[in-house]
Amino acid sequence: MEQMEGLTVTACERCPALCESRSRIVNGDGPDDASLLFVGEAPGAQEDAEGRPFVGRSGDVLNDALRDRGLARSDVRITNCVRCRPPDNRDPHKEELANCRDYLETELARVDPDLVVTLGKVPTEHLLERSVAVTKEAGSVHDVRLGDATHRLLVCVHPAATLYDRSQRETFDEALDEAVALVGEGAGDQSRLGDY
Ligand code: URA
Repeated sequence: MEQMEGLTVTACERCPALCESRSRIVNGDGPDDASLLFVGEAPGAQEDAEGRPFVGRSGDVLNDALRDRGLARSDVRITNCVRCRPPDNRDPHKEELANCRDYLETELARVDPDLVVTLGKVPTEHLLERSVAVTKEAGSVHDVRLGDATHRLLVCVHPAATLYDRSQRETFDEALDEAVALVGEGAGDQSRLGDY
């Protein structure tokens, strides 16, 4: 049984192992007309518990980086390649990425952001469909055909990488600067930073 209502997958049993390991489906979060859309890998324990992407330590890194650039989390959309937590936080398998791909393509087509930012190796390789040395290619921009649409994509390292390797912090920061520069004023159109 599977079902997608708007941007929300409400039921899905395509991946037997993930159906076992998840407590819930973690859908994308943020405005459905966001200019900037981040794609991560898969929900972790905290995301699985709360039902929102990037709410753990990686989410804190991302939120702080957005805030440093004058953006609130609620200005951007954040989603994952795979919507269910893999067992023991392993990387999603190829078939699981493939099973979830049309949900992601539908979300990207409906939100139609000015820029898609891939966070880390798994989403970058999944969407560019080749192997990628993310640290080397961070900040690079590509036009990619996904489903029926072409999207502009910027490669970024995963926020978690900055927690374990301080040298990745600079790479992450530069890629985010580039993302915000590319989207320009559109990025903060809906900014609620002033409300805090
Ligand atoms: N949280 C997510 O939702 N996705 C990741 O890739 C990492 C943490």
